[in-house]
Amino acid sequence: MKIYFCCTDFKAEPWLTALRTALPQAEIEVWAPGAPPGDYAVVWAPPQAFLDEQPRLKALFNLGAGVDALTQLKVAPATQLVRLDDAGMSVQMAEYVVHALIRHFREFALYEQDVAQGKWSFRRPRLRQDFPVGIMGLGVLGQRVARAVQAFEFPVLGWSRSAKDVPGVRCHAGAEQLSDFLAETRVLVCLLPLTAETEGILNRQTLAQLRPGGYLINVARGAHLVEEDLIPLLDNGHLAGATLDVFRQEPLPAGHPFWRHPKIAVTPHTAARTLRDESVAQIAAKITRLEHGESIAGIVDPMKGY
Ligand code: NAP
Ligand code: GLV
Repeated sequence: MKIYFCCTDFKAEPWLTALRTALPQAEIEVWAPGAPPGDYAVVWAPPQAFLDEQPRLKALFNLGAGVDALTQLKVAPATQLVRLDDAGMSVQMAEYVVHALIRHFREFALYEQDVAQGKWSFRRPRLRQDFPVGIMGLGVLGQRVARAVQAFEFPVLGWSRSAKDVPGVRCHAGAEQLSDFLAETRVLVCLLPLTAETEGILNRQTLAQLRPGGYLINVARGAHLVEEDLIPLLDNGHLAGATLDVFRQEPLPAGHPFWRHPKIAVTPHTAARTLRDESVAQIAAKITRLEHGESIAGIVDPMKGY
């Protein structure tokens, strides 16, 4: 069995070592143009030339949960796309979102400013029932985040494409229930995949439907947000702030207004990192199952795009 590694932004050597240890029977190499046909590939944002030269791959294992960089490419119909299915990401995502939520709710940024000036001052405690958290996307990551937020006793709402029943979450589904979901939400967390349907879903019209003093946490993809719509809503006070991990252009360009806006916290696409040991273990187990003719989780539906 031949497996290619074709990942922009990943250092190949440690991945090759880990993959060879997990799958000792396989021949595992970094792909180079002109290489012979392979059976599987481990990829992150591969070039179209790789897919054009390798039309007989049985599956492409994406080194991330989001497959938007792959769905933009032309992939042979017989090649299945497989996303990372948690692999240590969901607990990181829960940490990130809870940190952003609590930092905002407890006004820790303001305490830090006061303390920096030597001020010993208190703020009036706020009621968590006034801060319902709405999670867009109730998949692997969204449901883990919902559990973490519930542990701090915030009201939790969710919105997904298909109807869901998640304990303790007021679930909404489909375009027809989006407005109800937004109108009840004060802290909006985006954990949707980026597809033709979800691109630009965080815009002037949707964000304006949040409860006054709304807060945005975008941890999905930069293209979910219409960037120029955010700042006017922050400046007119309808939104109290935003924590953004993802951007239309990454790295966020120097001079972009998000870097310096006082109500925006920026992180460099780090909310949930791909962890090597967990990812290799998951991919190796899935390849073994596929070789035995067994089913696997995490296959991307080309019609839905996630
Ligand atoms: P997932 O398991 O595929 O879940 C996606 C969820 O979004 C599902 O609940 C799905 O609804 C819902 N959804 C999709 N299209 C929709 C639409 N048009 N309307 C309403 N709901 C829709 O994905 P995941 O593993 O949770 O990951 C979510 C995203 O997080 C990834 O795609 C990636 O972009 C992002 N991510 C970011 C980082 C980071 O570090 N910032 C790390 C990992 C992942 P159904 O349940 O009805 O299908
Ligand atoms: C990271 O953004 C991922 O999609 O895993």
